[in-house]
Amino acid sequence: GKVAVLMGGSSAERDVSLMSGSGVLQALRARGVDAHSFDPAYNNLGDLKRDGYSRCFIALHGRHGEDGTVQGALELLGIPYTGSGVLASSIAMDKIMTKRLWRAEGLPTPDWRLVANATETEQALQALGAPMIVKPAREGSTIGLTKVTDVAQCAQAYALASRYDPEVLCEQFIAGDETTCPVLGEAASAQALPVIRIVAPQGNYDYEHKYFTDDTQYHCPSGLPEAEEQAIQALVVQAFRTLGCRGWARADIMIRATDRQPFLLEINTSPGMTGHSLVPMSARAAGVSYEDLCLRLLAQATL
Ligand code: DAL
Ligand code: MG
Repeated sequence: GKVAVLMGGSSAERDVSLMSGSGVLQALRARGVDAHSFDPAYNNLGDLKRDGYSRCFIALHGRHGEDGTVQGALELLGIPYTGSGVLASSIAMDKIMTKRLWRAEGLPTPDWRLVANATETEQALQALGAPMIVKPAREGSTIGLTKVTDVAQCAQAYALASRYDPEVLCEQFIAGDETTCPVLGEAASAQALPVIRIVAPQGNYDYEHKYFTDDTQYHCPSGLPEAEEQAIQALVVQAFRTLGCRGWARADIMIRATDRQPFLLEINTSPGMTGHSLVPMSARAAGVSYEDLCLRLLAQATL
């Protein structure tokens, strides 16, 4: 039947989603799937039913796409979709809720404070120590994020983050290796793909470096000792299961330089599928092509 690739949408990550979606669309079509793009920013999701779509591939990122809202609409319409369900999507979109659950399950995540103004941001810096990351609770692609090293930066960092979300999170910065690791499958049978180690210029893996420049180095195989690679893979599977994720996701992890302890930063339930993106890169290292990955995700579409 007809497959809709949901792409675009209205979040700050709209442009990233358009890049992800066009890659997915092309891949599915190349494999003979009757796939069409569908942008919820300009179309009513109810039309999916009227137009005879039997499944959706969700290539939306951020709010109103990755956060359970679109998933809920598809549940109501009765159209199977890729990736996590309503609850896991909505928890994973919210970095604070995610960290609370991980912490409650004993999974390592950096210390944090939820702040409501510049003064509380300064107090958070006192409590957590410098450097500290200030970011919107529900955003992606490092949008609205500042690495604060001095109290004088707090007010501006808070103002920037709060432009994207009234919920602002301050998080202890973990100095060390930046890694990411995808997970595929159902919660019960989830499996991690190879870890990617990211080396960005000046350690600055931001929006530009994620999608547009070519000066970031991606190591996959990661080059980490086998025991560390396996520990990260086990951790991301636990992180995935704790939130009740499904289908696929990609967790971002920092390995603390001093003691090699891995810390979970967040899990993305609708990871990027752009030409620069990391899930396709890791899948390829495991022998799964971009096209096969798309087909495999689509085959797991469910309600
Ligand atoms: N939020 C972007 C799309 C990612 O995690 O890949
Ligand atoms: Mg993210």
